[in-house]
Amino acid sequence: MIQTTAIAHPNFALVKYWGKKDIDQNMPAMSSISLTVDSMQSKTKIYKNLSSKQHRLFINGQEQQDLSKIVPPLKYLSKISKSNDFLVIKSENNFPTSSGLASSASGIASFVTAYEAHYNIDLKMSDRVNACMLGSGSAPRSLLGGFVLMDKNDSYRCSQILKKSDWPLDILICIASTKPKKISSREGMEISRKTSPIYNDWLDINQKHVNEALVAIREKNMLKLENVTEKNCELMHQVMKTSSPPIAYKSDVTISCVAEIENLRAAGHELFYTIDAGPQVKIICDPKSSKAIKETITEKTDVIEIVHAGIGGSPRVVNEN
Ligand code: PMV
Repeated sequence: MIQTTAIAHPNFALVKYWGKKDIDQNMPAMSSISLTVDSMQSKTKIYKNLSSKQHRLFINGQEQQDLSKIVPPLKYLSKISKSNDFLVIKSENNFPTSSGLASSASGIASFVTAYEAHYNIDLKMSDRVNACMLGSGSAPRSLLGGFVLMDKNDSYRCSQILKKSDWPLDILICIASTKPKKISSREGMEISRKTSPIYNDWLDINQKHVNEALVAIREKNMLKLENVTEKNCELMHQVMKTSSPPIAYKSDVTISCVAEIENLRAAGHELFYTIDAGPQVKIICDPKSSKAIKETITEKTDVIEIVHAGIGGSPRVVNEN
């Protein structure tokens, strides 16, 4: 049986998307900027389902009943491939799933990459972006390595701002909990769009934050990037908190990590953080400070584990037949 496997990495947003412009097309209401990480990965294998006329999705060996993230990209791609195959899709993450670590982004990007190779369809980048977006609004950013801009004002075009070798920062992922989140990003951002009194301010500030982050990244200016990333992250969590019902992804462990980050910064280390739809804290830092940061966070907080990563590359097909 022919099977194709691809690997993609998660990405963490420095300027975030939280809120959709179009629910059916799963289109973000704003531009975003992210950093692709190495070390963490989704590996997805696909092959034709010969035993039944249905798609089957397995994540970490468990068959999923909810196929709502995978069927829309699959439909989009099958129009291009002109295939009406039913597929078996087996995806493995080497990190916790659905807990604010962007597993859907890397999962979908690895699926789209495997599909393209399996059917030999040589997609345009815009088709890869569209297919990924139908599965997860942040997944198109995992199609590229390094610092990535997804530009809402240019048909969500994704472009690389810098690659790893341009600015080889470290990323320390502080795992505060491995439990799946109670409210999915998809539900949470709809609640915020409909109810947060500051949702429009959040939309209005997006382009300013994108511009500031672009300057900071191009100048490789840690201080400027810290400033815009943390401002953007805290504003997104304010939007969540002011939603009705309020949405809270941070935990006590998250908050104690942030306090230690501030202490480390006061002691002269170059680092900043971001937090997504989960309690995990992602620290971006000068590699010279990684050891001291890991020691301090491990000693002073209740984090379960710290994953030490670098900046990652784009997805790739791996030959496992
Ligand atoms: O891609 P989604 O639909 O799971 O949403 C991602 C939302 C955030 O991670 C909180 C922000 C972002 O831009 O990645």
